[in-house]
Amino acid sequence: MDGIASEKMKIREIDAAPFAASLIEGHRDFGYSLETALADIIDNSISAGATEVALEADTATEYPWIALADNGRGMSEPELVEAMRLGSKNPTDVRAIDDLGRFGLGLKSASFSQCRQLTVLTRRDGIISCARWDLDGVSKRNNWNLELIDSPQDITGHELLPVTGTVVIWEKLDRLDGGYDRNWDKRAAHMNGELAGAERYLRLVFHRFIEGKRPRLKILLNGRVLKPIDPLASDNPACQKDPEEIMRLEQGDVRIRCHTLPHHSRMPRERWEEIGGPEGHLKTQGLYVYRENRLIISGGWLGLARQTELTKLCRIAIDIPNTMDADWKIDVKKASAQLPAVVRERLKKVVERFLGTSKRTYKKRGQKLVDATRFPVWNRVQREGNIVFRPNLEHPVFRSFANELPEEFRDGFDRCLRLLGSALPIDTLHAELTGNAEAVHADVALSDELEIMVLEIGRTLLSSGMKPADLPDTLQSHPFLRANWDAVVPLLKNFIGELKE
Ligand SMILES: Nc1ncnc2c1ncn2[C@@H]1O[C@H](COP(=O)(O)OP(=O)(O)OP(=O)(O)O)[C@@H](O)[C@H]1O
Ligand SMILES: [Mg+2]
Repeated sequence: MDGIASEKMKIREIDAAPFAASLIEGHRDFGYSLETALADIIDNSISAGATEVALEADTATEYPWIALADNGRGMSEPELVEAMRLGSKNPTDVRAIDDLGRFGLGLKSASFSQCRQLTVLTRRDGIISCARWDLDGVSKRNNWNLELIDSPQDITGHELLPVTGTVVIWEKLDRLDGGYDRNWDKRAAHMNGELAGAERYLRLVFHRFIEGKRPRLKILLNGRVLKPIDPLASDNPACQKDPEEIMRLEQGDVRIRCHTLPHHSRMPRERWEEIGGPEGHLKTQGLYVYRENRLIISGGWLGLARQTELTKLCRIAIDIPNTMDADWKIDVKKASAQLPAVVRERLKKVVERFLGTSKRTYKKRGQKLVDATRFPVWNRVQREGNIVFRPNLEHPVFRSFANELPEEFRDGFDRCLRLLGSALPIDTLHAELTGNAEAVHADVALSDELEIMVLEIGRTLLSSGMKPADLPDTLQSHPFLRANWDAVVPLLKNFIGELKE
């Protein structure tokens, strides 16, 4: 088509190169946040074989700066010049297997999203090279001339440069000052807050590298080593991992593995909250897509399912190679992707099966709580598709108390109990459970309430022919007594002892 058109048509060419000043400013707005920008720079360090990345920030000075120093392979001066070029690589080029890059843009666009001055200092084979893009300079000159700096010792953060490696320095942090350009204290507090937020993201996104399952990476933030956050809790023995499924596609293998997180009671609280993050477990259930072990999507079902309370322990790890970037529409920030149709079809089935099983397990557990109890305080009643929770008026504690009441008060007592049931705050419970289920608890029992319960249920069981020796097992099936079992044991011993006397 092209060829035919050019033979017939008369074509003149004229230089219409973009204006450097406007194009480079446009590179500031790819939609990076501080955390995605930092991660993009660390991607480069990993691709360069670094085992250590030190993130240093001085936010309290007149001219704040952020630097990322890695001990990767560094660059020669021609390589540095290429690296600083906007679009230094073709996205369609085949990349090395461990290369996390794609567009040849990340270093520049991530940096410009946060600052107006990007300096890269690098040392390879003992030779230091240094180059800088200063957006104010580009604006003024309106050309693509890169500044090469021959006195790197004058550069802020130059002392961070390892024997071999690279330091990326961000200055003129206009996007990070929170509008406090005159108030240094507030500006520093704002920047530190942003950095603290980014810390969690880096711990999550690079967790497999930090854990050392892949070439081990150490990330330091102002000298402090960051610990990994594994969103799948895969090292926890209580995490349920289904067998891995492999989709063999033309461009590479997609590996899918369903994980059911341990129940919150089987994980230290700190770990549980760390994995749920600020948004909580309801919002973070879903798909975890790793591209060459680097997390690019963390949570959400990408339209394949709804996020429900019953499925909030479900997370699916999906591993993809960098050979599938075009199909997955990996964006410049490496913070989003779209499921290719063929993967979507398969995943849909996996998700339906996985979530279906999880919902059944949960429902069974809920059912059991009510059914397994010989004497539930609450009955779960199913009627015409509705489920109603109703106080069990036949409970021995209620009945024996009612029997002690004068005849004319008994109906009133039952009415009070029924009123409690009809006033069960379902909407509030639902809202609380949806947002923060693990913080919602039944009220604690006072010791004399426990005692009444043990005595009344004990007596009722014995009068129905049960042997005293069988009492402990039966009482333990009562969730309320089981939850307070330490306090129940001495009460029960007393009760059985008194029977013998
Ligand atoms: N820390 C580093 N150490 C060594 N080389 C680097 C480093 N950072 C960048 N480079 C070189 O600069 C090139 C350009 O980096 P840049 O981040 O702009 O693009 P990319 O990583 O190739 O692709 P993407 O746009 O997807 O990030 C890299 O391909 C790499 O060759
Ligand atoms: Mg990159």
